[in-house]
Amino acid sequence: MPELIAQRKDDHVRLAVEQQRAAAGVNQFDEVAFVHQALAGLDRSQVSLATRFAGIAWPVPLYINAMTGGSPNTGRINADLALAAAATGVPIASGSMSAYFKDPGCAGTFAVLRENNPDGFVMANVNATASVANARKAVELLAADALQIHVNTVQETVMPEGDRSFASWVPQIAAIARGVPVPVIVKEVGFGLSRASVDVLAGLGVAVADLGGRGGTDFAAIENGRRRLGDYAYLHGFGLSTAACLLDAAGARLPVLASGGVRHPLDVARALALGAGAVGASGVFLKTVLDGGVPALVEQISAWLEQLAALQTMLGAPTPAALQDCDLLIGGSLREFCADRGID
Ligand code: FNR
Repeated sequence: MPELIAQRKDDHVRLAVEQQRAAAGVNQFDEVAFVHQALAGLDRSQVSLATRFAGIAWPVPLYINAMTGGSPNTGRINADLALAAAATGVPIASGSMSAYFKDPGCAGTFAVLRENNPDGFVMANVNATASVANARKAVELLAADALQIHVNTVQETVMPEGDRSFASWVPQIAAIARGVPVPVIVKEVGFGLSRASVDVLAGLGVAVADLGGRGGTDFAAIENGRRRLGDYAYLHGFGLSTAACLLDAAGARLPVLASGGVRHPLDVARALALGAGAVGASGVFLKTVLDGGVPALVEQISAWLEQLAALQTMLGAPTPAALQDCDLLIGGSLREFCADRGID
């Protein structure tokens, strides 16, 4: 059983990076444009990247989102991701820690996230069937500052060995949120949280919703790549894009984070302008660290942060939250989505 999980973790990394290499480079963030204001610019010295949501203060509105751990190879990847997080100050999330609950011997492949990043903001990660005791163990192993619970019904459906029992997830999320000593973030893994889903979470004691939308890593395609028999190829591209989720969730009762299909600093700025408290990326950073190691990822994250500050300077937004005051144009299919959903 532990071998099966370790193999799955390695498969996910391999197939996610293949996806990054083949990526078309187009997604619904392209349908979000800032209205250019030629005289709105600030001085760079007036701009801060600090953000705050649900009582959580981060120095930057960018984070390395959940990926991996559970096998020797993915432990090495976590070690490198954590070094890059420590060097740049970005928060970082662990991949699902289920493997640790089944095989405590792989604890080190996750614990390295804290060992290599002692002062950073670290998020543990469990699934929505984790026991409260295991959720607490995950937080303890990483001395985590927050706990992510991932919800991934589409991935489980396509996964050959996937779960088929989802009805307990809502009450279990509430139980975990009550039972852990840190804020709980519920995240999708690339199929998106609708407004209705965010509203359900708001009633469960969850602190934040990470919308985790379509547009980047596609776990329907990844799990299809792991199947021997038959497939669910028709589910590739299923779900709500991150931009659509942000528009749908405007004014929701929970603070939201945005992730899924974030390709560059302009996407970060777009997501912040659409209401995200911070913006996460996974696949893009994974490819960088595998291709160029820690130095390449440090260089990429540093460049993203510098460019985000430059964009805020150009757009007249002294803080990430102030990007929400910028006028946006919504085009194409995203505009149709807004019309269908009654979003102004
Ligand atoms: C993931 N993701 C993920 N999410 C999660 O909550 N727990 C997990 O264990 C994993 N595992 C995982 C492995 C790999 C290799 C990748 C690339 C991603 C999902 C991730 O956090 C994110 O929601 C999606 O990847 C969408 O973001 P990007 O990749 O489009 O930026």
